[in-house]
Amino acid sequence: MTNIRYYATNIIGLEDILWREIQAKLYDVNLIEKKKGRISFTYAGEPKELLGIRSAENIYVYVGVISGLSRSRNSLGEIFRHVSNYNLEIPLRIHKELHGGKGKKSLSFRVVSSMTGRHNFRRIDAQLAMESALTKKYGWKLTLDSPTIEFRLDLEEDTALIGIRLTDERIKRWKYKVSHVPASLNPSVAYSMVFLSEPNPLDIFVDPLCGAGTIPIERAYFGRYNMIIAGDIQQNSIESAKNNIESSRKKINLIQWDVNFLPIRDRSIDKVVCNLPFGKQTGSQAENKKLYVSFFKEVKRVIRPQGRCVLLSGDRNLVDSIISNYRDIRINNRISIDLSGIKAYIYVLNFL
Ligand SMILES: C[S@@+](CC[C@H](N)C(=O)[O-])C[C@H]1O[C@@H](n2cnc3c(N)ncnc32)[C@H](O)[C@@H]1O
Repeated sequence: MTNIRYYATNIIGLEDILWREIQAKLYDVNLIEKKKGRISFTYAGEPKELLGIRSAENIYVYVGVISGLSRSRNSLGEIFRHVSNYNLEIPLRIHKELHGGKGKKSLSFRVVSSMTGRHNFRRIDAQLAMESALTKKYGWKLTLDSPTIEFRLDLEEDTALIGIRLTDERIKRWKYKVSHVPASLNPSVAYSMVFLSEPNPLDIFVDPLCGAGTIPIERAYFGRYNMIIAGDIQQNSIESAKNNIESSRKKINLIQWDVNFLPIRDRSIDKVVCNLPFGKQTGSQAENKKLYVSFFKEVKRVIRPQGRCVLLSGDRNLVDSIISNYRDIRINNRISIDLSGIKAYIYVLNFL
């Protein structure tokens, strides 16, 4: 097969992990560009392998890029002209290979768009220009509701990137997530955190504040393990995690517990991966102070020497100040990420 251009998106800050997973899972990939929240690459292998990239929020097959766009409304005509002239043969073939679909004539489509930078037109005007070019050229039906094809238009300053989404929409992609709790984690972020724990088939893995169970389930999807244990203090979180674990059909032990008193032997756990409350949607800043201190005390007790802990928190000062009290915890990495406008930190901690 020839090299085809794709791009994958994840939240800002996790691009390196996304690229590491792409390289680990796909044969014959070449990096074109790493941008905030997006990796562009060429790949010559089977398109279906792309759908196994779990740290990607979405994956697109590239259609085209328009550069040198001005702020003025003339850009709308440029978008219309370029889109009308694109040859969609290859992107449509890749999409059809993955999703089937009717003949080219009876397709339905929608365009999802974003715009950054100053322009004398609205994002929706750029989207309309693209929609009308596609309708005029192909006669396809424009629909917001479950279209055959979703195009993406990202207008960033003077450049527009256009692609076709290959990954399923959220509800189908992470279909194990039948139940939610407040502040439940995006599965692609959960998978990225699992990736950073350097999973091993012999791992005994714990998420002591599991909420709806996203992290332990993503660990189970990663590959073989010895044991996964998930726990939470709240009955509704446990119910939610139970539903999600059942629908994932993964073997995960679920226990209702208080992280202050984990029913786990000393030095028996290899990996702890956990999303601590931010004190916004769940918990409060004052409760967090106590909770974080107890969390570290218990994790320090149950984790084996050379064990690893990957944490997500919104409170860098608090985490840093607690860690500074431990001589035997090393910060291996601290990644700053943007969770829908909220600044957060992923800590990778090695225990000595
Ligand atoms: C940010 S949420 C975790 C969300 C989870 N990662 C998900 O994707 O659904 C934090 C969880 O910590 C739990 N929690 C708070 N205090 C706890 C405690 N003392 N012991 C155990 N769990 C606790 C809450 O019930 C909540 O479900």
